[in-house]
Order: sequence, then C-alpha cells, then structure tokens
Amino acid sequence: MNSFILLSLFATVIVGKSPRLKFVVHEPSRFHFNKPENYISMYHQEGSDTLYLGGQAMVYVLTFTNRGVRDLQIAAASDQTAIDTCKAKAAPLELECDNFITVIQKVNDTIVVCGTNAGSPRCWMLVNDTVLTDVQGNGQIASASDISPPYPSQRSISLPADGSLYSAMSSVAGHAGSIRRTFGSQKLLKTENVWLLNPQFAGAAIIPSSQKFKEEIYFFFSEINKTARVDEEPYRARIGRICTWFYVISRWMKGASKPCWQTQWTTFMKARVMCGAGTTQQQYNNMKQAVVLTAQDKRAGVMYGLFSNAWGRTVICAYSIEDIDQAFSTSKLRGYSSPFIGTRPGMCVRKNSSVGGPNEIKNLGVIRYHPEIEDVIRPVGVAPLDLPTDDQITHTVADIVLAVNDEHYSVLYLGTDQGKILKVLHTSEGVFIISQYSLFRNEGPVLNMAIDSQKGHLYVGTAMEVQRLQLADCGRYGDTCRECILSRDPYCGWDRARRKCIAIPPGYNVTTGALIQNLDHSNSSVCGEAAALKQRRTSPREVVVQSNTSIFLPCPVRSFHATYRWEKDNCIKNYPCLFSGDFCVLGPVVDTPLKEGVFRCMATEDGFKVEVISFRLVNNGRLLAASLASTLGLSILLAVSTLWLH
Ligand SMILES: *[C@@H]1O[C@H](CO)[C@@H](O)[C@H](O)[C@H]1NC(C)=O
Ligand SMILES: *[C@@H]1O[C@H](CO)[C@@H](O)[C@H](O)[C@H]1NC(C)=O
Ligand SMILES: *[C@@H]1O[C@H](CO)[C@@H](O)[C@H](O)[C@H]1NC(C)=O
Ligand SMILES: *[C@@H]1O[C@H](CO)[C@@H](O)[C@H](O)[C@H]1NC(C)=O
Ligand SMILES: *[C@@H]1O[C@H](CO)[C@@H](O)[C@H](O)[C@H]1NC(C)=O
Ligand SMILES: *[C@@H]1O[C@H](CO)[C@@H](O)[C@H](O)[C@H]1NC(C)=O
Ligand SMILES: *[C@@H]1O[C@H](CO)[C@@H](O)[C@H](O)[C@H]1NC(C)=O
Repeated sequence: MNSFILLSLFATVIVGKSPRLKFVVHEPSRFHFNKPENYISMYHQEGSDTLYLGGQAMVYVLTFTNRGVRDLQIAAASDQTAIDTCKAKAAPLELECDNFITVIQKVNDTIVVCGTNAGSPRCWMLVNDTVLTDVQGNGQIASASDISPPYPSQRSISLPADGSLYSAMSSVAGHAGSIRRTFGSQKLLKTENVWLLNPQFAGAAIIPSSQKFKEEIYFFFSEINKTARVDEEPYRARIGRICTWFYVISRWMKGASKPCWQTQWTTFMKARVMCGAGTTQQQYNNMKQAVVLTAQDKRAGVMYGLFSNAWGRTVICAYSIEDIDQAFSTSKLRGYSSPFIGTRPGMCVRKNSSVGGPNEIKNLGVIRYHPEIEDVIRPVGVAPLDLPTDDQITHTVADIVLAVNDEHYSVLYLGTDQGKILKVLHTSEGVFIISQYSLFRNEGPVLNMAIDSQKGHLYVGTAMEVQRLQLADCGRYGDTCRECILSRDPYCGWDRARRKCIAIPPGYNVTTGALIQNLDHSNSSVCGEAAALKQRRTSPREVVVQSNTSIFLPCPVRSFHATYRWEKDNCIKNYPCLFSGDFCVLGPVVDTPLKEGVFRCMATEDGFKVEVISFRLVNNGRLLAASLASTLGLSILLAVSTLWLH
C-alpha cells in the first residue's frame, strides 16, 4: 500500500509540469537535407510560404504547401584561396573552413546573404529568389567581416530596422565583440569596446513606440569575466539598449596624427538580468537565446530568455518590457552620482534637439564611461517558468494570440535537444504545457525555428530536416466540448453550433459568443456536459483467456494530466496501472484476480471521470504450457492495442 501512496504523490507533483498531450506528427510538409547542416540560419517573412535557409556553402529556398515542399538549392561555395589559407592557418578549425551562411535578412527590399567564406566573410544579394550577386547599392555597406563572423562557431545576430542592418558579433579569442550598424541608408556605427565584456549574443528585438524617435533596439547577451576566480560565476546576462533614431555626434579625435572624425553611438545603455529564485544560489547566468513579444506600436509586452547554469540545465525566465523600460528611464548609472544636466544621458531624444550642445557633449561622456544602470532586471513571478526538467531546451519562439474573451495570451514553443516541441501557454497564473510534438525521425536537437503568426505556421529545423506545423492544430483535441476546452489552446475554441473544436477565425466577433474557451483554468464546466459524461459507457471488447495465463490489458493514455485507473464489475474493485507511459497497463499482481469479468479503464481529470476503454475477459478453461503463456499474454496486449489505434 505504501508504494501506491508514494506513486500517487509523485503523480500529483509532476502533473502540472508534464505536457498534457503528446503527438507524434509526420507532416507531409517536410524537407530533408542531403547532408547534415549543423549550423542553419533562417529567414522567413510573415504571411509568405517561403523559408530561406543558410547552410554549408548552400542557400535553400523552400516553398511549403500542405502537401509538400518545393526546394531550390543555390550553391554558395568559398573561394579556393580562402579555403587553402584557412586550412593552412588553423588545423582545429579545419571543419569550419567552408562558407557557412550566417546571415539572411531582408533590408529595404534587398535580401542580404552573408557567409563565413572559410575565414574571410563575404556578402551577396539574393536576386529573384534564384541568383546570388555581389552587393551593391546607394546606401552604406560595411565590410562583410562586420556582418558575418569568419567561423560559424562564433555566434552573430543580425536585425534589420529602419532601413538599416544591425549586426552583433560575439567575442572570441582575439576579437572583442561588438554591435554595429552595417548596412543601409544611415551612417555606419560601432559600439565602444569598453561597453561590452566578451559578449556572447543571444538575440535582438525592436521595441516599438508610437513616437518614432522613441523606438529602441534591445540586444540580449551574456558577458564573460575571464579573470573570475574558479568559485565565481563568470557569466552575467545582459540587456543592451540603443535608440534607432538618434543624433550622431562627430568629434575631433584627440591625439590622432591627422584630423579625423569619429562617429559615436550616444545612447547605449546596459542592465544586468537575473534569472533564478530570489537571491538564492540557484541562478541561471548564461543567456542563450531571447525573444520578445510586443503589441503593435506600444511599449508593453514580454521578453522570454532561455538561460543555462554551470551544469547545462536550461530554464526560461519571463520579463516585463515595462519593467525594463522603467529601469532604463529611472535607474542610477553605476559609478556615477552627480546630478544630470539637461536630458538624462542615454535617453532617446528627437533629432532636432540642440545637437552638439554643451549638455549633450557632457552626457556623451557620462554614457561613454557609465553605460550600465544600477537596477537589476528580475523576472515576473520571481522564478523561472515551471517547465519539465528532463528536457534541455535548445531554441524558443513565442506568439501572442487574441483569445475569445478579447484578451491576449502568450504561447511559447520550446524546441528540445531530442527534436521535440513543447507548446506552452503562459498566463499570469503560470504555465500550462498544452502539448508535446515529436516531429522527427532522427532525434537531433532543434537548431532553429521561425514563427508566422499571420499565416499560423511554425517552421522547425534540425541538422537533418525542416518541418512546418500548424499553430492552430485544433482537430487533434478530440470531438467533445470537454476535450476542446481542457486543451487550453488559445488558438482553438468550441463551436457551439457546429459542435466542433475549431481554429478561431480571423476577425472573429467576440460579442457573438459563438465560440467558447477557458484558458485561465483547467475547467470545462462551460460545456455543461457533466451528466452526459457520467452515463457514457464503451462497449467492452471480448478477450478469451486461457486459464493460468498472464494477461495485460492496455488503456491508451490521451491526457497525461488525467489519473488513470482500472475498475472491475462496475467499480466493486479498482486497480492502478501496473505501469504507465503511453498506455496504462493492467496486469497480474498479487491481489489482482485477472479472471472473468468486465474491466473498465477510467480517466479522471478536472473532477470528471470518463471511461476510456473496456474489456470483457472470458475464461475458456484450457491450460497452457507455462512458456507459451507469457508470450500469449504479450500478444494479446499487442493485438488489442493495434485494434484500438486503428
Ligand atoms: C530578375 O528577374 C527580372 C525579370 O524577370 C530579370 O529582368 C532580371 O534579369 C533577373 N535578374 C537576375 C539577376 O537574374
Ligand atoms: C530604400 O532604398 C531606396 C533605393 O535604394 C532608397 O531611396 C530609400 O531611401 C531606402 N529606404 C530606407 C528606409 O533606407
Ligand atoms: C572579474 O572577476 C575578478 C575576480 O573576482 C574581479 O576582480 C573583476 O573586477 C571582475 N571584472 C569585472 C569586469 O567584473
Ligand atoms: C522639433 O521638436 C519640437 C519639440 O521639441 C517639435 O515641436 C518640432 O515640431 C520639431 N521640429 C521638427 C522640424 O521636427
Ligand atoms: C458583433 O456582433 C454584434 C451582435 O452580435 C453586433 O452588434 C456587432 O456589430 C458585431 N461587430 C462587428 C465588428 O461585426
Ligand atoms: C469550474 O468552474 C465552475 C464555475 O466557474 C465552478 O463552480 C467549479 O467549482 C469549477 N470546477 C473545478 C474543478 O474547479
Ligand atoms: C500454471 O499453473 C500450475 C499449477 O496450477 C503452476 O505450477 C504453474 O507455475 C502455472 N504457470 C504459470 C505461468 O502461472
């Protein structure tokens, strides 16, 4: 009995953390690489069916339909001289001596493609989706090595904004790392070296504003203190912020041998980001990736950071954009205590303010030496999101969904190192793991994802293949109101009239009340089906048993948040699963008389008990040889489970 109590305790502990549903999906819209692509860059424009992928010496232009994928592969080989030089120079990097495409971005209607080109980066323009040509244009173009790193293991981030391309290059030995404006109609710029301490970039996002001059770009990164003692944490997670619409101060360089002007960023600021419970030792300091969800032209939203600790465990922390904005606007600057004269240093100001006035020059000096704010950015809900601990998260994207109650809900898609996707609803109450998708035949890690909210698609890439999924995958939730509501999927609602779980149509009129949902709690009382559920019986499948045989009865597990039990002869006795996973299996244990009678498998969730499957065991009285018996037991199990699944 003791072991049983333990088991049920364990079950209640993990229930919230596990995905409620598990789907094995092999969509026809998938593409296989001819060779493994261990570094993939992705570009996708919302509303299109085309996905651009950068691989090793190759650009893939993939056009997805619901039936399959049309692919165009454009070779982008390295110069032979670059390969020879690379191989002669660095033996440990020999595998990286090729042209890995690191950047594909659309800047002002031009698709810019840059690659490592075996240690001496090169850029192209992709013309007509078919041809790579040399970069040309009226705008400013930085050297390719400011846009793409020389080797794929050096992580870089690129973000098009306001007709320009912003490129962030992580630090490696002998290279400090920087943020630059590299391409477009505006002046080229670079951050000061003292502002970033061995940065490893994790992401970048535009923070919109109704006033154009207040538009900002956030860069997410980790800094590494290489002189930290062994007992000290070398990583510090950071948010860096710049204004896109700022005036440029050019100044005379002192001590230069000939006159030259230096152009500077006047608005760089950075803040420390914490992820962990309170001030405990359980801190996750290495930010690996970050995504931002914001409403159109509003400075509100949420940022999700993917962090790891020294043991490689990954977690997600969520931050409020308002909190971050507040900190940048009001916090003291580290190491600077004098009062500010005029505009606060580092703020985004209108371009027509007095450029180069004495206060601005002074503020420039303040930001140059004191870019860090004192306030620390802490996650909403204080701790990391309560997610399964056995999955290592490798990539994440997020979406914002307008639900039937006219409110917005955040949905996270987490790619794991096993090639799975977790679909997670995040509300003010916490997280709910809607489902887990197993997509790939080869269980490699998810390397990259792109989301298209407009068309409702998720693109997922591993080193072997790329697949497209529907965000509103409502048909999988079953054909009852209760199953639809308990899915807690904000993309899906129960259509009262058609009695179907459907995707919320674009432009749905919330006042009609045609669709129902309940996203805040797992509670399907809106369906009003309680009485009907109690009555529902399945017709028992007959199984003829040889006496003296071990028999196993399988019950397919649909909801991993439900409790499964077996009952005999209308609930006179009930039994736990002998073992469970995808099936709750009833088998012979000491006091389980698996003989004649009707066995029903019952699933309890949200306070309701529902019958899933039932078997009538009929004894045919004959004895069997012991060795054969166990084989037969197993074959019954398998026979019945295939019967169920088809
Ligand atoms: C792109 O397409 C246009 C129109 O079909 C054609 O005139 C042009 O030559 C093409 N450019 C390249 C580089 O192929
Ligand atoms: C986009 O390119 C065109 C033509 O090259 C140029 O006139 C325009 O100013 C650019 N727009 C931006 C926002 O840079
Ligand atoms: C790096 O760690 C060392 C040792 O604790 C410390 O003295 C130094 O100030 C740290 N550097 C920075 C930039 O925090
Ligand atoms: C300059 O800024 C002021 C507000 O500071 C604004 O009223 C004015 O319209 C701006 N002028 C131009 C030309 O943008
Ligand atoms: C929504 O439906 C209500 C009545 O059901 C109607 O009065 C209203 O005009 C509709 N709104 C829109 C935007 O169609
Ligand atoms: C579900 O919601 C209804 C009405 O809001 C409430 O009466 C009921 O107790 C809830 N059920 C559970 C299991 O929380
Ligand atoms: C079958 O029953 C006989 C005697 O009733 C027993 O000795 C034997 O171990 C049983 N075999 C199995 C597989 O239970």
